[in-house]
Amino acid sequence: MKNISGNPFLKKESGKIFIDKVPLDEILNKFKTPLMIFLENRIRANIRTFTDIFRSEFENFHCFYSFKANYLSEICKIVHSEGIGAEIIGLPELKLALKLGFPSNKIIVGGPYLSKELIESSIKNKVKEVVLYNLSDLKKINLVAKKFDYIQDICIRVNSQKYNSKLGIKLDEKKVAIFKETLRNCKNVNIKTILSHHSSQMNNFRQFRDNIEAITYNLRLFSGVGISIDNINLGGGFPEATVMPYKQLRIIANEIKLELKRLGIKYNNIFFEPGRYFIGDTGLFISKIVKVSENRWIFLNIGNHICPKFAKCSLRFYNASQINEPHKVKTSIAGIIPTDQDVLAKDYFFTDNLNEGDKVLVTNTGAYCLTFSNRFPYSLPKILLINDNGYKQIFDPKIDGDFSIN
Ligand SMILES: Cc1ncc(COP(=O)(O)O)c(C=O)c1O
Repeated sequence: MKNISGNPFLKKESGKIFIDKVPLDEILNKFKTPLMIFLENRIRANIRTFTDIFRSEFENFHCFYSFKANYLSEICKIVHSEGIGAEIIGLPELKLALKLGFPSNKIIVGGPYLSKELIESSIKNKVKEVVLYNLSDLKKINLVAKKFDYIQDICIRVNSQKYNSKLGIKLDEKKVAIFKETLRNCKNVNIKTILSHHSSQMNNFRQFRDNIEAITYNLRLFSGVGISIDNINLGGGFPEATVMPYKQLRIIANEIKLELKRLGIKYNNIFFEPGRYFIGDTGLFISKIVKVSENRWIFLNIGNHICPKFAKCSLRFYNASQINEPHKVKTSIAGIIPTDQDVLAKDYFFTDNLNEGDKVLVTNTGAYCLTFSNRFPYSLPKILLINDNGYKQIFDPKIDGDFSIN
């Protein structure tokens, strides 16, 4: 059997497609398109690859899944069962993580806006760290911690210094001195970790190196005013596992270790917060060509409302109805939203014959598609979770309404 989209859990043989061990035809007999599918075994395989590689490079490696990549309960449950922690940006995610049984000492909470409720809930539940994105939040956290007579461990998210990045604290010698002064009056917080998340879809080591440089620069500033920091957190930013195969991830992990050594960075623990790597290539859409238009434009019955550009997925398109035919002719793919802006791909290599009704497999849609999806007035797709030769429906818009969390 041959892999589709480089994914060992998507195969084709004699013109038939298998999703894990389930024939696509079996699914199409029971469900209408558009349909979304997740691959449980691929989630587990991705987590194990990532943790095996990083554990073999770093003795004190800890991993926190970035919930925002995909916060469906069934997906987070799988991540939890693999012993991974949670990286959370808001109260709904925190409630979900606690409900699913993520231990609080494996939950990191932080974001550009920390509401009082989020800080209180984080402290009451004794989460591992609260992440500071803005210096002004330090006093806020300290005040709440004082109320609960608790000393809260803090992670400082520094600006990754990527061009135009607005997230994280931008420090210089003056600001770090002010920070130190503020800290003097904040006895209920303890600075433990420094975090820099560079960007999404980091394909080469240069981006990881830039991220490490941001950490190094800021660690020096802190050390200059006598603040020592135990742990470093390099965030996420890894591409889909099919885009960054095992060998390449191994090299990246090794180079990160060597770079930290070369720069003389001392740390007790190293944290990573992958989202896309775990989940990106575990999700796919089964859609349908609803219209074939001039100049080899095809229209699918999904669009940017459910498969949004914002998600930055490495989308791949396969004509599932003609899977044995070569995909070699440039074709442009539009979504179903009635606007010319709804383009899914331009000049994408696809089958020569384009038929209305052909089923189209869109892969690598597991991370951020649902998160960035919007309320364009089309019904949401059903979602299935496939495991070996079995599957279960994990979302039905008629029963569940919406997959948002609150
Ligand atoms: C602080 C932090 N950690 C982790 C992630 C997850 O990134 P990815 O899904 O690219 O691994 C993000 C994404 O924006 C982030 O901002």
